[in-house]
Amino acid sequence: MALRVSVIGTNYLGAAHAAGMAEFGHEVIGVDIVEERVQTLNAGRSPIFEEGLEPLLTKHTSSGRLRFTTDHREVADWADVHFLCVGTPQSPSGAADLSQVHAAADSLAPHLTRPTLVVGKSTVPVGTAPALQERLRAASPAGDGIDVAWNPEFLREAYAVEDTLRPDRIVLGVQNERAASLLKRCYAMPLSENTPIIECDLATAELIKVAANAFLATKISFINAMAQMCQAAGGDVTLLADAIGHDKRIGRDFLNAGLGFGGGCLPKDIRALAASAQDHGVTVLSDLIGSVEAINAGQRTEIAELAIEQAGGDVTGKRIAVLGAAFKPGTDDTRNSPSLTVAAHLAAHGADVHVYDPQATVDSPGISQDPTVEEALTGAEMVLHLTEWPEFRQLDPEHLATLVKNPLMIDGRLKLHRPQWAKAGWKVVQIGRAATL
Ligand code: UGA
Repeated sequence: MALRVSVIGTNYLGAAHAAGMAEFGHEVIGVDIVEERVQTLNAGRSPIFEEGLEPLLTKHTSSGRLRFTTDHREVADWADVHFLCVGTPQSPSGAADLSQVHAAADSLAPHLTRPTLVVGKSTVPVGTAPALQERLRAASPAGDGIDVAWNPEFLREAYAVEDTLRPDRIVLGVQNERAASLLKRCYAMPLSENTPIIECDLATAELIKVAANAFLATKISFINAMAQMCQAAGGDVTLLADAIGHDKRIGRDFLNAGLGFGGGCLPKDIRALAASAQDHGVTVLSDLIGSVEAINAGQRTEIAELAIEQAGGDVTGKRIAVLGAAFKPGTDDTRNSPSLTVAAHLAAHGADVHVYDPQATVDSPGISQDPTVEEALTGAEMVLHLTEWPEFRQLDPEHLATLVKNPLMIDGRLKLHRPQWAKAGWKVVQIGRAATL
């Protein structure tokens, strides 16, 4: 049976979740404090580039099953369940900044006059959920009638809709059967398609999410460390990843070596886990994460320094083209983008950096953005391939060789077909692929 669902916070996670809940048959109101975002969403438009999101928003804002508001009062007693989907950015200390979670709770609580379930989806340090429950109970007329559950989200940007509608698993951190059964009604549709479900306590649910991101980050840093080893010893990290990836216990996903991980989630989530591990005296975990982070940061520096070395040690005044600005393909998100770190490093060393990206907008001092690959490459003394948009693999190296001043390609994502580019006269440099022609 359809439920009334509120979704508080409508960025990547919240917008996709609200649209997904409407698609699952529920009546949904999304709440955000940004008026402009609410207007855009109410018009059925997506404020972000995310495959499939806009059609779903249009479908359900038109059907009347989905709308958005800036007023928490509208949803407080209306909804059967409230999902908190606000951001948990990094604070200066590295720990998670919970101010948005607290602000959302404080805006909602005074208007909750009947018993209700508040479900956290944001990524938070272990121990947040019980503290939040106390905060809500203390500030709301419904008092002890407020129950908190944690239902972490595992969606990837660029696949947000797909991951929301067809999740790999559903994790329910609950304190009682009432909360579990209400959440199962929310997810009745994916559960009817045999999506695995894990019911657990609040702490386990909070930890599952950060463990997943930390494990993914560790996989990436491991393969990047192996890329360094291949570079030093003369091996090929891509073939190595293919070979170990065939082992079902390892798996090939997240073993793509290159510039490492970025974005609005993995980097800040693992740092927050390290801070939380420190707080709990679990230094083996914070040490492990410290190594993962150090390897990741090292990849960016390594590529930037390699470019300077290839330019004869000095990039001052040299035109350098960069392919890709988003932190990964399929998104316009440039938060903590490895590509832009490298571009900024080169610009800081005096290079004239020209970036092309199919979706992302670059707003970094000293970096120009060009509307086409051709314009970015014209007159370049070097090209760096830093975000692996599929369209970059379709480029014509022969044509591009006629535009650049010097056909030198640094493939920071190890995705270009080196023999094809070499045949067109390009020198292609890839860290960790020394053995492959
Ligand atoms: C990540 C997780 O994959 C999601 O499961 C999680 O829900 C999300 O964070 C979150 O916490 O919200 P996302 O940030 O969209 O999702 O990006 P990923 O697809 O995980 O990629 C992260 C970074 O790793 C990207 O910069 C990507 O280029 C890099 N990466 C990925 C590699 O360098 N190598 C790989 O093999 C895979």
